[in-house]
Amino acid sequence: MREFLTRLPKAELHLHIEGSLEPELMFALANRNGIELPYDSVDAVRAAYEFDDLQSFLDLYYQGMSVLRTADDFFDLAMDYFRRAHAEGVVHVELSFDPQAHLSRGVELSTQIDGLLRAMREGERKLGLSTALILSFLRDRSAEDALDVLEKAAPYWEALDAVGLDSAEFGNPPSKFAAVFERARELGIPRIAHAGEEGPASYVREALESLDVCRIDHGVRCLEDASVVDTLRDRRIPLTVCPLSNVRLKVVEDMRDHPLPTLLDAGLVLTINSDDPAYFGGGVLDNYLACHEAFEWSRETFAQLARNALNVAFMSDARRRELLAELDACQASDA
Ligand code: ADE
Ligand code: ZN
Repeated sequence: MREFLTRLPKAELHLHIEGSLEPELMFALANRNGIELPYDSVDAVRAAYEFDDLQSFLDLYYQGMSVLRTADDFFDLAMDYFRRAHAEGVVHVELSFDPQAHLSRGVELSTQIDGLLRAMREGERKLGLSTALILSFLRDRSAEDALDVLEKAAPYWEALDAVGLDSAEFGNPPSKFAAVFERARELGIPRIAHAGEEGPASYVREALESLDVCRIDHGVRCLEDASVVDTLRDRRIPLTVCPLSNVRLKVVEDMRDHPLPTLLDAGLVLTINSDDPAYFGGGVLDNYLACHEAFEWSRETFAQLARNALNVAFMSDARRRELLAELDACQASDA
């Protein structure tokens, strides 16, 4: 099964690029930039990755990304991730980034985006990946701050495949960002949002109604309201589920308690993703493998999940046809 899941052409639709920062690169960038880290070794960093909830993770996540200062840092971060993803059979990567977290440290938007776009071109050229860029707003900051970032990003609107919404969910409902997402809609930029990760099912409904999103990141708590599940199914709204993340952030106790099988039975459009692979124990392949161990799904089920991701990814029609054909060939060679 490992061999099959590796070969399967997988798309990563829910990845915070800052969450792909491995401790080794964190130290290398800290040295390069003359930054003192509160750890004395790579092992000490890894040992600190024990989380009680989303907020306890976010505290370390924002601290870790403070080593990113120059466009080369953002380039190296993304390339480091692309190489690992490519090695595990990932063919398309949609990377979210958190511009406000860098702007407040004095790192310009142009520094961030120039480094990321350069890596995306390099990943396409050298590794044959396709890529997409998602600008995420921090929901624990004000709506005005988010709107300000969206306007600042004007030179890059064309380069953005979507805007998203992340960070601390409790107390920061989607409706808080209705005006920002309306502005993105006017600009013709697609919209997605984290909802129903730690927050209630009502936030999933709000993201659909107030933000007009085309995908929900996580969304696992939709199961607490049957009417929300019905809406997601009827409108074929995809969920980008991140099982290892949900275990590490204690959204669920154990992989075996993960609601993925129930979500599948409910007829939802599901995809499997990594969220923050450096913090949660692995990339897309590890997430597929964790599902294999916990649920023993058939190859057809895994192929369907990979197909869902290709169907709903931000990519050209030509690229989608090419990757769907690769997926068909992978399944046929296996029959
Ligand atoms: N930012 C990075 N990872 C996140 C997650 N799992 N939920 C919300 N915000 C995030
Ligand atoms: Zn996320």
